[in-house]
Amino acid sequence: MLERLEQLDRDATAALEAVDNPDGLEAFRIKYLGTKGQFKAAMTWLKDASKEERPQLGQGLNQLKNRLQTEFDQKKASLGSAKPRAAGPMLDVTEPPLPPQMGRRHVITQVIDELIEVFGRMGFDVAEGPELEDERHNFVDLNIPPEHPARDPLDNFYLDDTHLLRTQTSTVQIRVMEQTQPPIRVIAPGRVYRPDTHDATHSSMFHQLEGLYVDEQVSMVDLKTALFQFARAYFGEKAEIRLRPSYFPFTEPSAELDIKMQLKGEWQWVELGGCGMVDPNVFQAVGYDPEQWTGFAFGMGIERIAMARYGIGDIRWLYENDVRFLRQF
Ligand code: DAH
Repeated sequence: MLERLEQLDRDATAALEAVDNPDGLEAFRIKYLGTKGQFKAAMTWLKDASKEERPQLGQGLNQLKNRLQTEFDQKKASLGSAKPRAAGPMLDVTEPPLPPQMGRRHVITQVIDELIEVFGRMGFDVAEGPELEDERHNFVDLNIPPEHPARDPLDNFYLDDTHLLRTQTSTVQIRVMEQTQPPIRVIAPGRVYRPDTHDATHSSMFHQLEGLYVDEQVSMVDLKTALFQFARAYFGEKAEIRLRPSYFPFTEPSAELDIKMQLKGEWQWVELGGCGMVDPNVFQAVGYDPEQWTGFAFGMGIERIAMARYGIGDIRWLYENDVRFLRQF
């Protein structure tokens, strides 16, 4: 029994000596002096001790406990007083605040908002459509026949035989015309999906801005004017547009749209999308009389616009959500 007392003495004394911070001191108190501590446990030794040992053991435990309590109190006073002085006041009310970490809209969202604003000034409303589409809205009503290469299952994310993730925002043209009568003036920004291999200029998800204008006697001049006004408003007073003859199933005639804009200090032509006069077959599909109604449509890549405008060299940076990149916009 007396060996156990000596052992406790050695352990506790060494433990207290090793303490060098308030947390350690508190741990010591709990382990040895607390209500569930070792001294409390040592009281049961008395019960098991022989008659001769008992008084000596009791006295020894008491002395040890008192000594440790005194040393503990001293240590507490020295640790307690030394620390705050070294660390200074807990709260320095004179310290300037850290700048608040503000969130911001993603650069693509910022571009979309600006596009909505620019076209809004020309009288275009915003329309939306679902990203999960059926073949009718994505192809059939847009005059894209079953044998057209764009309908190849390998070039589309099909979910079942007739549903797919939309490959173009042109679907929203159909959705709007199904629900409204002309005159129509809408833009539709949104996500589109194509199974492209990711590289600096390709992503399997990206954004397009669709435009649709339907009224009586709409002409190619109206299309060029709208695109020109947009180019000047968005890319600056020296921007130019260029339409190159092309083919899309849903427009006739069709054109590729290039905009001359300042890229890294130099004025350059950048291909932004397609456009044209709405094909009479599309009007027929939505129940409009092609003899009465005419219209133009356009579709632009929003990433293209953002990358050209801000000199972004890799489309993947837009989706990696690295704040060092995103903070620049
Ligand atoms: N939907 C076409 C594409 O994704 C772009 C496009 C071309 C949209 C001509 C149009 C248009 O509205 O008239 O490549």
